[in-house]
Amino acid sequence: MKIISVVGARPQFVKLAPIHAAAKAAGVEHVIVHTGQHYDPMLSDVFFEDLGIGAPDVHLGVGSGSHGVQTGAMLAALDAVFDEHHPDWVLVYGDTNSTVAAALSAVKMHIPVAHLEAGLRSFNRRMPEEHNRVMTDHAADLLLAPTQVAVDHLATEGLAARTVLVGDVMTDVLFEVRDELAGAPSALLDELGLTPDGYYVATIHRAENTDDPVRLGDVAAALASLDKPVILLAHPRVVAKAASHGISLTQGALIAHAPLAYKDLIAAALSSAGVVTDSGGLQKEAFLLGVPCTTVRTETEWVETIELGWNVLANTATEIAAAVTRPRPVETDESPYGDGKAAQRVVAELIIGAGGAGGA
Ligand code: UD1
Repeated sequence: MKIISVVGARPQFVKLAPIHAAAKAAGVEHVIVHTGQHYDPMLSDVFFEDLGIGAPDVHLGVGSGSHGVQTGAMLAALDAVFDEHHPDWVLVYGDTNSTVAAALSAVKMHIPVAHLEAGLRSFNRRMPEEHNRVMTDHAADLLLAPTQVAVDHLATEGLAARTVLVGDVMTDVLFEVRDELAGAPSALLDELGLTPDGYYVATIHRAENTDDPVRLGDVAAALASLDKPVILLAHPRVVAKAASHGISLTQGALIAHAPLAYKDLIAAALSSAGVVTDSGGLQKEAFLLGVPCTTVRTETEWVETIELGWNVLANTATEIAAAVTRPRPVETDESPYGDGKAAQRVVAELIIGAGGAGGA
């Protein structure tokens, strides 16, 4: 039995790590294809090295471009890869351009497609990720849902028969890294002269917050006026957009910093007073680490974090300031994101779907 995982963007490398380990443990052949959507070493190589994945088997080197150019280049390159490897499954992750390209290429070649993190919805059709996830769910043969809410969305769209609730693989890797860190302080404390609970960690990269100069200027000003230093782990997209809009990402309380490797990010979040983000993954990671989160978006796919009080949506400077200084949320023992064993379930489902040929 052979699985091809197609990944291209930073959060997908994190999700790939537990899948790769589970495939290996089950004796399943696992071919890793990196589309090249993310290519900066701090968005790519560092994850493969630190999370024990090893180098990708195939690298398409597609790089950046408009949505059509980037997705089209991946589509053009993937046919030959799938043709050469003849996998039992193509496994795609999340909602990026790499995901929709691989799903489309594989279904056209009649190769079964499994979608990890299926069923997420923001219901915001201006987000590129919303189109990607809806199209991928409807194209795929097996929908591996991380949460009950995702299962319900898929049922509403008539996709219940193809859906399995497996839990969230991000929980698998996060719990492992948290335990490995064993409370070790973040290297950011020494580097930037910070104290535990004396700063916020921020990430902002979504098109909705970065592409319009007025919006990015407002977000930067809101973070700059917070009551503690705000360490902005700046994705290349926000750096590029800020430079072209003439906006400084180091002003007032706001301090721009290069992106961190996964373990360093988790350590930085754990030592912080809170996280301010528009990333999907970080909202969940903050919740699972017991760190209050403020999300700079008008909606979120991870509604459980909001319902349980650990995440607040905030967009204006006033809303953001109020959200980050809110009282600590009530502790919860709810675990909407699974038990840390989702990857084993994913591989088991793929083996069943391929006719039980694990280890072959
Ligand atoms: C992509 C995903 C988004 C995910 C994010 C994780 C899509 C539509 N979006 O957004 O869902 O949350 O990855 O980080 O697939 N750039 C670099 N170096 C890189 C990569 C990007 O400089 O290694 C810059 C380029 O200017 C590029 C821009 O960032 O044009 C945007 O990159 P792209 O991959 O298109 O989207 P992300 O914003 O990273």
